Amino acid sequence: MKWTMWALAGLVAIGGCGKPDGGSSGGGEMPLVAFAQANSQDPWRQVFDKEIQAEAAKHSSEFRYEQQSAEDDPNKQISTIDTLLVKSPKVLLVSPVKESVQQTVEKAYDAGIPVILLDRGIPGDKYTCLIGGDNLEIGRKAAEYLVERLGGKGVVLMIQGLGGASATLERAGGAKEVFAKNPGITVIEGDDCKYQRKAARDYMDTFLQSAKPFDAVYCHNDEMAIGAYLAMEAAGTPKKVIVGVDACQKEIVQYIQDGKIDATFKYPIPGPEGVRMAAEILKGNMPKEKKRVLATEIVTRENAEAYLKANPNLF
Ligand code: FRU
Repeated sequence: MKWTMWALAGLVAIGGCGKPDGGSSGGGEMPLVAFAQANSQDPWRQVFDKEIQAEAAKHSSEFRYEQQSAEDDPNKQISTIDTLLVKSPKVLLVSPVKESVQQTVEKAYDAGIPVILLDRGIPGDKYTCLIGGDNLEIGRKAAEYLVERLGGKGVVLMIQGLGGASATLERAGGAKEVFAKNPGITVIEGDDCKYQRKAARDYMDTFLQSAKPFDAVYCHNDEMAIGAYLAMEAAGTPKKVIVGVDACQKEIVQYIQDGKIDATFKYPIPGPEGVRMAAEILKGNMPKEKKRVLATEIVTRENAEAYLKANPNLF
């Protein structure tokens, strides 16, 4: 069962044919590329881990690759980055749990280690490059879709991802920008449900008991959209417009095909691109841009079948 991969989340090392110390170069030692992952638990991260590890394996004659995950705990991520830094990586990849890991990331950058941020970012500019989807744009597009579906009038409940994560701040910010231009739309800022299905289901259970009227639910990821839907289904709530983000699971596409959830936005996996960028850096080719944006697309009932065909490796 896929979820048993949780147990393996701690530490993954690929291409360990180099000498144990990837530090100083003399003697042809293999350099180390280290990755501090935010978590390895939810479906999107499991696809991410699989893809980044497959890409790293392709480069196993160029560098060793090591990964540690932080279970979405910023303090744990700070200590895993510190542990990885002791091993003197030549490139550090980080998918920050929250913006609060900034100082630790900056420490690596100030020590002269190229730092590639994946998916979530940190404030300031002390990193080499950020690779990922444009979350502000995803937030805007999600809101535009909802405004259109509601004919410009209605109440949108926004169920939020992990507080303090840049993806959450931007998915909320982009959407609120669009809602603010539509006076017929009222937004209820729902709880931080940590991007987790169960938390969103529990939150929606409680919200429904408040009997507050609402017309649509905007969830910062698909796991929470499914959780919210399941709570509404169990309560017999009349159909609402529901939108999520990620589009990395067959399950969400099925919900969309069944007309239970309305739309999701592909949140591109940045792992392979990050590994390729690390490989280039090791050859002396620093990225020229500060941000490498990966494309998104909307998935609705209309294009769900085509999306499945174009993305055969969904979780
Ligand atoms: C996984 C996840 C995704 C989401 C991304 C945002 O941990 O929660 O579902 O799109 O992180 O950073």
